[in-house]
Amino acid sequence: MSANAASRLLQHYVDNFRRLPWRSPPGSPPPEPYRVWLSEVMLQQTTVAAVTPRFERFLERWPTIEALAAAPEADVMQEWAGLGYYARARNLIACARAVAAMGGFPASEAELRKLPGIGAYTSAAVAAIAFGEAEVPVDTNVERVVARLHALTDKSAVPAFAKAMMPEGRPGDFAQAMMDLGASICRPRAPLCTQCPLAADCRAFALGTPEAFPTPKPK
Ligand code: ADE
Repeated sequence: MSANAASRLLQHYVDNFRRLPWRSPPGSPPPEPYRVWLSEVMLQQTTVAAVTPRFERFLERWPTIEALAAAPEADVMQEWAGLGYYARARNLIACARAVAAMGGFPASEAELRKLPGIGAYTSAAVAAIAFGEAEVPVDTNVERVVARLHALTDKSAVPAFAKAMMPEGRPGDFAQAMMDLGASICRPRAPLCTQCPLAADCRAFALGTPEAFPTPKPK
């Protein structure tokens, strides 16, 4: 993406920033890796609205990764109740114990990826948001933004394009700006292209068929 487009996206994020309990305001010091990791795991299959109160309650009960690592597994499973996908909770405990034994989260995407329950998305999110590493976490929202911007029919090309779009500096703000754009403007149906800071650069918009990207799977 051109430097101009990236700066328009970041400015749009500054102006429309959602104050969520796991975020730091744009341009301010990053949130702790524990908060970023916990929120990203919770958000994997659960909506922001459902996660927000549960995230705050969880943090009150276990304010640090060391506290979580020391918690009885049954207590954590009980606190997780209703968030679903209980394998996530079991991985959460295993990961907390591994990180506590290491003396804290490793600061690189490659090291984060080795931890229990941490895949490509979560390692990139924690590396970018908490540690300022130049990584782009690609979830379905970011995938849609990138596929439309470059009119990509093949989703497998998205991660490389996403990385090439990264501006210098502020990878955490950039990652969350992309997530928010996908959630609020670059929606799956009826995207709000007239409000989009990237419309002038968007190939799918220029083609007049933003909803055609990424190409839906044949039924
Ligand atoms: N969904 C996944 N990660 C998110 C984040 N950091 N902020 C908002 N929504 C998200």
